[in-house]
Amino acid sequence: MNPFVFGEVVEGFNFIDRKAEIKTLVRDIEDGQKIFLIAPRRYGKTSLLVKTTEKLKTRGVRVIYIDLYKTASLEQFTAALGKSMSEMRKLEFGEAVKFIKEFISGLRPQFSVNPDGSMSLGVDATPPQKEVFQMIENLLAYPQRFAKKENQRVVVMFDEFQEIADIGGEPLEKLMRAVIQKQRDVSYIFCGSKKTMMNEMASRKSRAFFGIGPITHLEKIQNEYFEKYMAGNFSKGNFDYSKEALRAIIRNAGEIPYYIQYLAHELWDMKAEDKKITAQDVEKAVGLIAKRNSPIYQMLWEGFPQTQKRLLQGLAADPKATIFSGSFITRFQMKSSALVKKSLSLLIKKEIIEKENDEYIFTDHWFSIWVRKYCS
Ligand SMILES: Nc1ncnc2c1ncn2[C@@H]1O[C@H](COP(=O)(O)OP(=O)(O)O)[C@@H](O)[C@H]1O
Ligand SMILES: [Mg+2]
Repeated sequence: MNPFVFGEVVEGFNFIDRKAEIKTLVRDIEDGQKIFLIAPRRYGKTSLLVKTTEKLKTRGVRVIYIDLYKTASLEQFTAALGKSMSEMRKLEFGEAVKFIKEFISGLRPQFSVNPDGSMSLGVDATPPQKEVFQMIENLLAYPQRFAKKENQRVVVMFDEFQEIADIGGEPLEKLMRAVIQKQRDVSYIFCGSKKTMMNEMASRKSRAFFGIGPITHLEKIQNEYFEKYMAGNFSKGNFDYSKEALRAIIRNAGEIPYYIQYLAHELWDMKAEDKKITAQDVEKAVGLIAKRNSPIYQMLWEGFPQTQKRLLQGLAADPKATIFSGSFITRFQMKSSALVKKSLSLLIKKEIIEKENDEYIFTDHWFSIWVRKYCS
């Protein structure tokens, strides 16, 4: 079986490195800190939260986890808060229903049981915002009440927290800040991608969450750990590989955990018969992936105006390019730095491009390879 995993939370043997990060997180959580944890998509944030949760549980810390990608409205967010708190309490179904109803009966919650026994919760009403905000305030106050009463540490983890802007905007941020900052026995993790947005949220004076606690930027996983991990997996599968090939995998994946696993997975399947992996094979696998995604990328590409296409060509050719320089502007016919700026901000808005350590990178790494290969 192919051992390389991508696109889902990695656990156990597949979870590598991050020891220092876990240690710091556990310490800060036990100190009751409110932490901003920021990294681009696919760096391993959720996996880190899950791993940290395991560790925290052995230390008697109660964990409340909410994924804001799954809550597409203020009402759903409110219901998810209630549900995650009942999960933290480990309540059985009937008790959980009672518990949740106490907080959100105004949303007319609908409960059902999933095949795996877990609860599915929908809402059937949209009361005035003021009422929903009151529910949220009561819910957010609960972890502190619980922590005090049970003499236990609690941490509330919000994953994909940048979505809060769409869910409730500034009024919700303000409400959350006001309730949370007074809580001595509860720690919070605001985890999110879309770096600029999360950064602004945490470090702009005018924003609600300014100064609430430490801001941590999750970095990529060190290459040597990934080399060891891949070497271990390929050896177990009786593959012959060179160190150079392993390095080529990491490089061609932009050093991003998700794409490294993706590419290694691809190579495992591609070379299942002759069991030999060279640096050339890595290039070939990248080409296969780009080609497979062609239909989607083609459609995406057709939707860009020409100036944005040219900027994308430039960024795909060299992610380190100084895109405001005269030579870049001439080479990619961008006319002026003002036009670069405008096109760039539109591409960032469409979430095609992301700013990362002063570089402008494609949010979809394979798309940058596709552009380089098929559109330049
Ligand atoms: N610690 C890790 N060890 C090995 N692979 C990882 C690790 N963290 C992330 N990955 C890879 O990246 C993918 C995305 O991880 P995930 O935790 O979902 O990232 P994020 O939440 O930042 O988008 C995983 O499916 C896995 O392929
Ligand atoms: Mg995630």
